[in-house]
Amino acid sequence: MSVLDQVSKDLKDRFKEEDPMRAPDWNEENPIGLPHEQAIGLAGELDRHQASMFVMFHQYQKHHWVVEGPQFRDLHLYLEDSYNQIHKDLDAIAERLTVLGALPTASPIALAKQAYVAHEPEGYFPIRTMLRNDLKMERTICTMLRNTIGRAQEIGDYGTATLLKSVLMNAEERAHHLDHYLAEDGLRSGLSEEK
Ligand SMILES: [Fe+2]
Repeated sequence: MSVLDQVSKDLKDRFKEEDPMRAPDWNEENPIGLPHEQAIGLAGELDRHQASMFVMFHQYQKHHWVVEGPQFRDLHLYLEDSYNQIHKDLDAIAERLTVLGALPTASPIALAKQAYVAHEPEGYFPIRTMLRNDLKMERTICTMLRNTIGRAQEIGDYGTATLLKSVLMNAEERAHHLDHYLAEDGLRSGLSEEK
């Protein structure tokens, strides 16, 4: 067994017995005067958004790492801007969730289970395919965010609605930019052509 495998096994053994002080489904009354049940319901939706945006974050990061071709530099930097922006936004959502009185999902495996989007398979795909995968995921996130904005407004949680509106506008702008990158005269043809 390698040193890394041994360390990983030791850590897993160590945490096996450890019960958290607050279980993942723990919740408390919020300090901002929102009805408890509804705030916790909304917090559950926020958790799914931040989990899904973490998946999007990782997919953008992958594409930033592997992108090649004549527009390499522009795309490499653009994808970095995207994952930085989405990370900032998911961080704000997770923090809002704690205001509502719940605990955000945090470990990568649990986040992937909690997300309503799935990361593309491992491996390199043509850049147009990868950007299409990003666009599809952004579109799903936009649709789901709109649902939660409606729900937040219904229960009078204008703070969450305002936060999500700015997150939505960032996602819509990224989707719009991806759509432009995928325009007919955008990237070179050949390797990137769809079969
Ligand atoms: Fe980088």
